[in-house]
Parts: sequence; C-alpha cells; structure tokens
Amino acid sequence: MRDLVAQTRLSVDDLVAPLFVREGIDEPLPIASLPGVVQHTRASLRREVLDLADLGIKSVILFGVPSKKDEIGSGAFDANGIVQVALRDLRDDLGDRMVLMADLCVDEYTSHGHCGILDGRGSVDNDRTLEVYAKAAVAQATAGAHVCAPSGMMDGQVGVIRAALDGAGHTNTAILAYSAKYASGLYGPFRDAVDVQIIGGGDRKGYQQDWRNSREALVEVAADIEQGADMVMVKPALAYLDVISAVRSVVDVPVAAYHVSGEYAMIKAAAANGWIDHDAVAIEQLTAIKRAGADIILTYLARWFAESARR
Ligand code: PBG
Repeated sequence: MRDLVAQTRLSVDDLVAPLFVREGIDEPLPIASLPGVVQHTRASLRREVLDLADLGIKSVILFGVPSKKDEIGSGAFDANGIVQVALRDLRDDLGDRMVLMADLCVDEYTSHGHCGILDGRGSVDNDRTLEVYAKAAVAQATAGAHVCAPSGMMDGQVGVIRAALDGAGHTNTAILAYSAKYASGLYGPFRDAVDVQIIGGGDRKGYQQDWRNSREALVEVAADIEQGADMVMVKPALAYLDVISAVRSVVDVPVAAYHVSGEYAMIKAAAANGWIDHDAVAIEQLTAIKRAGADIILTYLARWFAESARR
C-alpha cells in the first residue's frame, strides 16, 4: 500500500554516474577518501561504462586527471587530452546508448588548481578564462560528448560555450550548467580524486556562491537559461534542498543536483564505523534530493543503486 501511494520514486533513469579517468596509468587507482571510487585507466573506464549501461544507467559524467598540468590548463582543450580520448573510446563502444557528459572546467588541468586563468595578481581572469572554456567545449563535442557541463562558475560561460559549439557545427550538443554551485567544504574528497590543490591554500569564494545566499542562486540560474543552458544544476545537494526546491518552482528546464564527494564520503565513513546503516541512509538521501525537485541526480552511488534495484 505504501509503495502504491508513494509520492517520490527514484529510478536508475534519474542518475548520472561521475567517473574519473587518469592519463598514463596501467591499473585503476583507488581514491582513499572516496571508498569504492577509482581513477580509471582508459581500458577500465570502458569496462565500467559498459557495465553501467548493462545495469540500466543512462548517463555518465567524465572528469580527467592529466599527467601534466600547466598555467592555462591546456589538457582541457587538447584534442588528445585524457577526457577527449576517453570520450572517443566511449562513443565508439556505446554510440548513443549512454549519454556522455563532460565536466567542463580547467581546475584539474591547471598547475595552480583554480577553475580559470590567473591574472598578474593571482586572481582568476573571468574573460580570458571564457576563451579557454570555448575551446574545451568544442574539443569535448568533437570527441563525442553529448552534453558539456561547465562547472567553473565564470560569468557568461554558458553564452560563450553555446556560441562556440554552434559556430563549430555542434548545434545538438546540450549544456548542463552548474548554475548554483556553492563554495562548499564538501568537495574535499573530489580534490583528492583529481589531484587538485589550490595554490597558497586558496579557495573558490571569488567565483563560487556564498552558502549564506539562496535568492542569488535564482539569479545565476536565470542568467544561465537566458544564455542557452538546456539543464541547470544545484550543487551540493543535501545542504541545499531549499535551493533545489526554489529553482524547481521557477524554471521549466530539467533541474539536476550533484550529491557530491563529501556527501558520499560521510555515508561511507559513518557506515564503515557501524554508526549508520549504509543502504538505508543512501536511499533516504537520494530520494530526498528527488523529493525536493531534482529531475537528475549526479551521484557516486549510481552503481550501488542500480545493483540494489536489481536485487
Ligand atoms: C570543478 C568541480 C568540482 C566538483 C565538480 N566539478 C570541484 C570544485 O569546484 O572544487 C566537485 C564534485 C564533488 O565534490 O563530488 N571542476
């Protein structure tokens, strides 16, 4: 009876699996702060994505870990950068069977760890960064991405990326904008996963949102939709259910939420200590994100959910 009248139903169709692929390794490498998640080799990534497709997962989002970083993050737009190479592999293997998303940012590729190019004073230069994002979008789409997902929170990024994609003939490549991305403490394990340290112990408060603010998120979302975003995202998820709900009530495009690395790590750590029941908490949290209004959930729990849905 309760199942019959349940008001929220989570399905594998809602989930996007974030995956890491690292250049120049022969074996997948575990990530200590993200139990069960690895840095993939090209080959292990292909196997994982085929497995996920067989489990019914419809989409993955790729993050690259380059073997060399530089000032401008050129690995993000190099045709032979690790994500571009991986996209070609996966598109060959799966065609349109899996929606391939590519995170579009430079922090994984810059020597200083910021999401943009630095000016002479160590601050991020918004407009010079946009030029790099435009090149990265075209490189990703050319390599086979169905969706570019700009996560750097530069002003004007969606419009510039849309124009670059259209200009290169990639009119069908969609944009999932990380629109309301907060300067959260919950990204710590992710930065281990992509080997990113922000230079001088810096932070991203200059471009990501202040978590004391919610109305500001609606301004960011509206700007992204105006510039051509096909889908918008709120990130992280659980501490921002109010923001997800507010965004859902004012937009008609699909709303995504990212259950981020720190949220995943907290479940794993508490469960490993025997302090909470992993499966009960995982399903409660993912369902709450959907209940708040998310249509799409990016989560490291995607594989676990798909496997438990089968049982
Ligand atoms: C930036 C990016 C970050 C995440 C996704 N894209 C990190 C950051 O802004 O520092 C975090 C995802 C997570 O914590 O799971 N390219």
